[in-house]
Amino acid sequence: MFDSIAGQYDLMNRVMTLGQDQRWRKFVVERAGDAHGGRVLDLATGTGDIAALYKASFPEATVIGGDFSQNMLAEARKRFAERRIAWQACDANFLPFTDNFFRAVTFGYLLRNVDDVPRVLAEVYRVLDQGGRIVCLDTTPPKKNLLYPFIRAYLRWGIPLLGRLIASDEDAYAYLTGSTMGFYTAEDLAEAFGRAGFRKVGFKRFMLGTIAVHWGEK
Ligand SMILES: C[S@@+](CC[C@H](N)C(=O)[O-])C[C@H]1O[C@@H](n2cnc3c(N)ncnc32)[C@H](O)[C@@H]1O
Repeated sequence: MFDSIAGQYDLMNRVMTLGQDQRWRKFVVERAGDAHGGRVLDLATGTGDIAALYKASFPEATVIGGDFSQNMLAEARKRFAERRIAWQACDANFLPFTDNFFRAVTFGYLLRNVDDVPRVLAEVYRVLDQGGRIVCLDTTPPKKNLLYPFIRAYLRWGIPLLGRLIASDEDAYAYLTGSTMGFYTAEDLAEAFGRAGFRKVGFKRFMLGTIAVHWGEK
C-alpha cells in the first residue's frame, strides 16, 4: 500500500492536515534533541521529512532514514539528494542494528500500521543507547466532545474523498481512518512506552486531538 501511494504522499499530507504536518514533524525533532554528532534513526521515514528536518537542525548528526517501502525510499532519495542522509531498507520488527546504537529514534505514522506495537517498541529500546530518546508522531482516536461528530465525519468521509481525488486511492485513505479509530488512545500508548521500559514518558496532542507526539528515554 505504501509503495503505491508514495508519489502523491506529500501532497496528500499537506492538504489533509491543512498544511500543519510539517509543524508536528519539527516538534518531533525538537523533542528528540541534539544528538551531539551521534547517530539518529528516523524509522518509517517514508519520503524522508523527519530525517531531513533533523539533519537541517543538527547537521553534525549521522542520520539514517529507514523504511520497508522501496518506493518511499526512492522518493526520499530524490527529494533530499543533496543532504547527507543514509537511506536504508529495514523492517521495524527486526531492526538491522546492534544494541545501544542510536542517540535518538524518531518515527512518524508507523505504530498504527504494525501488528505488534510492543515488539516494535522493544526493538527501538534495544537499538537506543542509555539516555537515548524515542519520539513518535501518529494519529490518535479523538476524544468524545462537542466537536467529535465533525471530526469523525471528516475522518470517515473527508479523508477518503481527498484520497480519491488527490491520490486516486480511496482505500488507502479509508485505511488511515480505520486504523486511527482502532489505534491506542494517547494515554494507552504512553503506558505502552512505560511497559517497554522507557522513562520520562510524555505526550502532546495536536489538530483537535487527532494527532499525538509521544516521547520517552531509555
Ligand atoms: C504514513 S508513512 C509515514 C512516513 C513519514 N514518517 C512521515 O512523517 O510522513 C508510514 C511509513 O511507514 C512505513 N512502514 C510501515 N510499517 C513498517 C515496518 N514494519 N517497517 C518499516 N517501515 C514501515 C511505510 O512504508 C511508510 O513509508
